[in-house]
Amino acid sequence: MDRVSKPAAWLLGRIVLTLAALSLLMVASLAHADDPPPPLKDNGLARTPPMGWNSWNKFACEVDEALIRKTADAMVSSGMREAGYQYVVIDDCWHGARDAHGDIQPDPKRFPSGMKALGDYIHSRGLKFGIYSDAGLKTCGGRPGSWGHEYQDAQQYAAWGVDYLKYDWCMAGTQDARSAYYIMSSALQATGRDIVLSICEWGTSKPWLWAGDVGNLWRTTGDIYDKWEGVRDYSSGVMNIVDKQAELYPYARPGHWNDPDMLEVGNGGMTTEEYRSHFSLWAMLAAPLIAGNDIANMDAATKAILTNREVIAVDQDPLGQQARRVSKTGDLEVWIRPLQGGGRAVVLLNRGSAPAQVRLDWSQMDYPLTLKAKVRDLWAGKDVGVQQARYQANVASHGVVMLKVQP
Ligand code: GLA
Repeated sequence: MDRVSKPAAWLLGRIVLTLAALSLLMVASLAHADDPPPPLKDNGLARTPPMGWNSWNKFACEVDEALIRKTADAMVSSGMREAGYQYVVIDDCWHGARDAHGDIQPDPKRFPSGMKALGDYIHSRGLKFGIYSDAGLKTCGGRPGSWGHEYQDAQQYAAWGVDYLKYDWCMAGTQDARSAYYIMSSALQATGRDIVLSICEWGTSKPWLWAGDVGNLWRTTGDIYDKWEGVRDYSSGVMNIVDKQAELYPYARPGHWNDPDMLEVGNGGMTTEEYRSHFSLWAMLAAPLIAGNDIANMDAATKAILTNREVIAVDQDPLGQQARRVSKTGDLEVWIRPLQGGGRAVVLLNRGSAPAQVRLDWSQMDYPLTLKAKVRDLWAGKDVGVQQARYQANVASHGVVMLKVQP
């Protein structure tokens, strides 16, 4: 009896244990499949859209430490820093190889003093240091990406004194975008250093739906190029990019911004009028203001656009609400951005080839028709008086009239 019952009891015990283990595993794997990782802690950065400079639009892969130092100096001497521009970001192609430990190193010919020294130089100018990597095996310029090295790279950037990471999406394989950016965001947070995360996934997986929990800004489109309108390979002109932002206003908020790509102001492909419109619309969109021109050699017109304090103040308004396009009649558009304190920023845009009258109605700003409001023209730098019910202005071809309306 004993000899029979002992193995039977043992067998029964094993079956019960195995079943229990299996059901635990099933519960665990179900939980794994169903539950996305919890939202990351907000890093508390970029309460207003980041402002700075990035090497890509003008210099592409032609970057070295002399250029970055010269640009940092020019950010100070030109008044860009005083106007609010902070981050000096080296885009693609700064990379050399990984060393024997797998630590990423800069290209020794282009950055012979190393990235720590360059970061120190940027910081000594009262500016912040930004760098670029990619969530794939290689960057778009074919340099080593961070896939599989995320924590190691984040530690390296922190040791160099990096304050801002632009993280691209070339050669990313079949990775899920949210998960890939989540890993780098966790890695940056684990360094204990304040590092802004700029997500550069080109809008492919609708990042506005998920990136607010992962990073500080997210590209909403492919690359910008230095033209008013048009599409070239993966790049779009300013008007094409603007059209893609019109529906994204609900997603912008302090710490988390739609990014319609970096500025082309001063790069030579558009007129001064068009650059003024480009800059005004970026300010209305609460877009990061990342200059992309040659700061050390910019002309007076470029500098006047990039450093217009009143337009920058619209971009940096602490309420953090992105503008809405409230009317579009052919080539004529009205964009409205609510500001802290009950005022409104307004852009009257003329996309057509001849000057035109564009009208703003108080109802478009959610104001009663009887409300009296002071109207100021931000590019003219002039008050145009107290107005009521409506305001109309003549707008140049491809131009804007940008207003601040204050009841
Ligand atoms: C992508 C990005 C650009 C730039 C280049 C660098 O195209 O969208 O902004 O960083 O890569 O190779």
